[in-house]
Amino acid sequence: MSTRKLHGEHMLTDAGRVEWVSRNAQASALAASPYKWDFPLLARKPDLAFLDSAATAQRPSSVLEAQKRFYETMNANALRGLYELSVEATEAINASRAHVARFLGLDDRNDARDIVFCRNTSEALNMVAQSFAPIVLEPGDEVCITVMEHHSNLIPWQQACRAAGAKLVYMYPDDEGVISEEEMRAKIGPRTKIVSAVHVSNVLGVANDVKLMAQIAHEFDAVMVVDGAQSAPHFPIDLNDLGCDFFAFSAHKVYGPFGIGVLWGRHDLLDAMPPFLTGGEMIDAVTEQTATWAPVPEKFEAGTQDAAGIYALDAALTYVEEVGFDAIQAREAALVAQCMRRLSQLEFVRLIGPSDPAAHHGVVSFNVCTIHPHDVASILDMDGVAIRAGHHCAQPLLAHLGIDSCCRASFAFYNDARDIDRLIDGLNHVWTMFHG
Ligand code: ALA
Repeated sequence: MSTRKLHGEHMLTDAGRVEWVSRNAQASALAASPYKWDFPLLARKPDLAFLDSAATAQRPSSVLEAQKRFYETMNANALRGLYELSVEATEAINASRAHVARFLGLDDRNDARDIVFCRNTSEALNMVAQSFAPIVLEPGDEVCITVMEHHSNLIPWQQACRAAGAKLVYMYPDDEGVISEEEMRAKIGPRTKIVSAVHVSNVLGVANDVKLMAQIAHEFDAVMVVDGAQSAPHFPIDLNDLGCDFFAFSAHKVYGPFGIGVLWGRHDLLDAMPPFLTGGEMIDAVTEQTATWAPVPEKFEAGTQDAAGIYALDAALTYVEEVGFDAIQAREAALVAQCMRRLSQLEFVRLIGPSDPAAHHGVVSFNVCTIHPHDVASILDMDGVAIRAGHHCAQPLLAHLGIDSCCRASFAFYNDARDIDRLIDGLNHVWTMFHG
């Protein structure tokens, strides 16, 4: 069965049968997700309630097939060879680079050169912190971030500030997770050289107004960096509209392979930055004592690229476009709202984050009174429910919230109401185990 045929045309009934259903009919009804059939792992494990897509999404068969197709039909080291296979591999990378540009709302011919492939969002953000920050940071300068950063957009700035003698300044959200304009203007000022913010918090699920932050940063000639790891899977990104200067995301959270990250940067900034890694394919000319650099983006892509992964990212973006962000947003909003409603009916559960479900982008965090999140997650696992528990690589945020750890259920459009039922049943089981 082809992915295309299954896509949005069949649904798994409660009785486990596959029945035909139109995409529109199922888009509002979350009873059983037809999309699960696009994902071999989910199709093979119908009893798994996978509620950890914020950590990594499942991959549709079109992505898995693309990765295999690369190795079976065009495997060669891209950029290096002058023979047909190598040229095909190079073209596959270039096509994917152009697709990423389109995915980010950019011009796929002129702006694709500003798409840098790396390993993940962490590496992309380290590239900015280690290659760009030293150009602009001087002692006494400030880098402004939010307290809701994932450690991957926090520790690189701690290090950059330490190296430059600069100060790391934090913006804090209100009780509803909103970083107000007043807070932005209180923290971003004449000393600020870089503002870096997570677009969507991996714990609260809130989307920061990074467009406004970028405007304020630019009033002070500061540069705006956006960590898009948790936004790119959930809603369309238009970098021309956001107006930021750097944007990073990971393929594995948009249904693509592990090990591929994307950094987009303003061309003049990328051009001014020294390379992050040095070695093969990132040079123009090398003598015994000196080297000059290749242009952007090759300057930042030392060594052999994971061409198969980059090719599979192209397929992942095609898949996302076929499902469409309208359907993705409608389903995820409905799933989050239903999950929050059901959780709020459990008297032993405390929800974390904004009270308005519409403010949560795919993420619902909570705690179970008196029971450690690790125990909750382990017992849920026995019931076939996969959630994440712990500090979620956001320890300063959790300290700000006055907790050490929490549970997190995170949703993708392929989830359905049965996954929520399983979570609720599992939590009742957890409570019963501890409190009879
Ligand atoms: N950053 C990923 C998460 O929040 C791993 O789960």
